[in-house]
Amino acid sequence: MLHSPVLLEESIDFLITNPSGKYIDATFGRGGHSRKILESISKDGELLALDKDIEAIRFAEENFKENNFSIQHAGFEDIDSINTAKEADGILFDFGLCSTHYDNPSRGFSFNEAGPLDMRIDIRQPKKLEDFLQTSDAEELANIIYRYGDEKESRKISHAIIDSYKDGKISNTIDLAEVIKKSKTRFPKKIHPATKTFQALRIYLNNEINNLRIGLKKSKDLIKTGGRIVCISFHSLEDRSVKQSFAPKKISYPKEIPLNNEVIKEFKVVAKKIKPSASELQRNKRSRSAIMRVFEKI
Ligand SMILES: C[S@@+](CC[C@H](N)C(=O)[O-])C[C@H]1O[C@@H](n2cnc3c(N)ncnc32)[C@H](O)[C@@H]1O
Repeated sequence: MLHSPVLLEESIDFLITNPSGKYIDATFGRGGHSRKILESISKDGELLALDKDIEAIRFAEENFKENNFSIQHAGFEDIDSINTAKEADGILFDFGLCSTHYDNPSRGFSFNEAGPLDMRIDIRQPKKLEDFLQTSDAEELANIIYRYGDEKESRKISHAIIDSYKDGKISNTIDLAEVIKKSKTRFPKKIHPATKTFQALRIYLNNEINNLRIGLKKSKDLIKTGGRIVCISFHSLEDRSVKQSFAPKKISYPKEIPLNNEVIKEFKVVAKKIKPSASELQRNKRSRSAIMRVFEKI
């Protein structure tokens, strides 16, 4: 199944302020948002897309032939190293993974079909999930599962994973999901018992929260005054990091300096906590946790 873009109309309506401007889709995926951007800008407008996943780049090369479109195999945390990314009118971030990642078991993200212990978004990255499991211990793993998965049973799960892995009982993603399931005593109603742990491992392994913060920090510098940054998050950790990235800067002076503390506001909030409509939620189950925020450079 091809990926269904989330909050498509809403995000592009906020993003495009000038049809002949320069836009960046920092998370191309399968190009759902990029397609809509290209339909909304004129021939003088420009779209640069990025993705860390080589499969997304191949998809773009086959399906996006427009002269005003280009794509780079790069992480948005390195957006400042791309010459054409400067002075953009709008940058879109649609964080996380595409449905296509889960649908392809060979990438190691799926707990429904057996795949290797991989979970890398960028296959140029040397460290796979397997490498991590070889060197990790129960304490480190529990902290990761708790922090990035908000999983209350993180300790039980981490001990079960480390013990079973050492005993040679985890060699693919189904084995891993089964170990997680068996170690849990409380079962969520609507999701697979391994969902939170898989999410945590993926976020940790791909350094997702750190990259999000770096990508937003650099984008804030690259965007034009009046330009907008649109962020679509899928869990509270992402959304919190987005909010913090745009919080006004506070400068406080020591008592002996006769100056009032200052608040420096570089961005104004254009929209916050936008959620998918009822009809989108019905059409696309994956959209249920999406939250969009939009910021404009002052
Ligand atoms: C939710 S999908 C985007 C879907 C896209 N908006 C669409 O409509 O098809 C997120 C994409 O971001 C990519 N990605 C994840 N981390 C990244 C990073 N640090 N830099 C660039 N791309 C990243 C993933 O490979 C994935 O293709």
